[in-house]
Amino acid sequence: MQSLKNVVVVGGSYVGSGAATKLANALPSGYRVLLVEPHSHFHHLFAFPRFAIVPQHEHKAFIPYTRLFASAQAPNSHAVVQAKAVRVADKVLHLDRAWEEAKELPYEYLVIATGTKLPSPGSMQHDHKLGGVDFFKTYQGGIKTAKNIVIIGGGAVGVQMALDLKEFYPEKNVTLVHSRDKVMNRFHPGLDAIVRKRFDEVGVKAITGERVKLPAEGFPTDGTPTTVHTTNSEIPADLVILATGQVPNNQLVKDLDDDAEDKLTAPNGFLRVRPTLQLLNPAYSNVFALGDIADTGAPKAARPGMLQADVVVDNILSLIEGKEPTKKLEVGAAAIHLTLGLKQNVIFKNPDGDEEPMIKMRDDGQEDMGIEGVWTRRGFQVKDASEYHL
Ligand SMILES: Cc1cc2nc3c(=O)[nH]c(=O)nc-3n(C[C@H](O)[C@H](O)[C@H](O)COP(=O)(O)OP(=O)(O)OC[C@H]3O[C@@H](n4cnc5c(N)ncnc54)[C@H](O)[C@@H]3O)c2cc1C
Ligand SMILES: *[C@@H]1O[C@H](CO)[C@@H](O)[C@H](O)[C@H]1NC(C)=O
Repeated sequence: MQSLKNVVVVGGSYVGSGAATKLANALPSGYRVLLVEPHSHFHHLFAFPRFAIVPQHEHKAFIPYTRLFASAQAPNSHAVVQAKAVRVADKVLHLDRAWEEAKELPYEYLVIATGTKLPSPGSMQHDHKLGGVDFFKTYQGGIKTAKNIVIIGGGAVGVQMALDLKEFYPEKNVTLVHSRDKVMNRFHPGLDAIVRKRFDEVGVKAITGERVKLPAEGFPTDGTPTTVHTTNSEIPADLVILATGQVPNNQLVKDLDDDAEDKLTAPNGFLRVRPTLQLLNPAYSNVFALGDIADTGAPKAARPGMLQADVVVDNILSLIEGKEPTKKLEVGAAAIHLTLGLKQNVIFKNPDGDEEPMIKMRDDGQEDMGIEGVWTRRGFQVKDASEYHL
């Protein structure tokens, strides 16, 4: 058999796995997709804040990759490579472990979708499903015994956790601290108003415009009572949840960057790209970046990332045909579907131009966040609840 040329995607979260499926469906024969990802399963991050609090659903947040290429013409020619990419080189990707007996993966085209890292429970330290499930069970236990909980960070993760917590455990004190005057400050202030109203209804205390002094040794994680010091307040806590500090996963281009005159990473740590999503540096025209890791100015969310996948697929097909890549990224207004507790939720879209924001309040939230539909979209028609343990 003639050997296949590799299109390698690094990072198998929403954007990378979406790009891998689209590529597998679109590439001409002679090419295969290899998706490099250290996690054994897809991590459904949207449900992490909820499943860190509400028990009995945690295993559903980890969905097998086994049906990722099911819709492709030759499903078996593509593969998920369970490994971490440690270094990008010219036409070769270096892995932290061997795959098919080699730690070097040759590529024709490379697609970087390595996203960002957050403190737990915003992302997961464990690569294997059982480790992730155990982590959530232990975390839920810590929350159950805590009486005074302080959440640091008023972005989506912090806000959703605060409201879920207070609704699920009304007897606990829940305080959210945010350094800006408005929570959800990447959005139009109308969203701050909606969240504040909800905080008042549910009984979440918000302290805004104050910075937390983070202790060098970190906050205790074993339930030991501590005090959270801010610019103006002292808040007793027996559990502190960190919901800030998104760090770009850019380590794999570090060596390349040392050699490059045009740095691959912007000062903020994200990867510089052209409107075609090729790396900005012209020496790397066969390397693309998209999703949260790419410095596109697009909102950092899953849906805009998926639109970027269409740009990358189109442009790789052009390059394969020997043509100039012409498909360009279009950046739209930021939008979010935010839970406001166990039932209430809001769809909020920033104004496009000088219109008002689009706001849809809803009361149809489910405890498991509609996880069955997520499994369906990833190729699993779950007929028996035991299948969620796959
Ligand atoms: C808790 C939480 C809830 C969220 N809820 C929503 C929501 O409801 N709606 C929404 O639109 N957005 C939500 N977001 C934001 C959304 O999840 C991100 O915008 C989205 O995940 C970005 O996807 P990505 O694929 O670009 O990167 P990421 O999701 O950050 O994934 C990066 C992937 O790359 C892998 N990786 C990293 N480095 C390497 C390497 N060296 N080698 C191989 N693999 C590597 C990681 O293991 C990971 O799987 C949420 C985010 C969090 C943290
Ligand atoms: C909540 O905080 C108040 C005021 O600090 C305190 O009196 C009360 O005991 C706390 N509740 C719990 C459950 O610890």
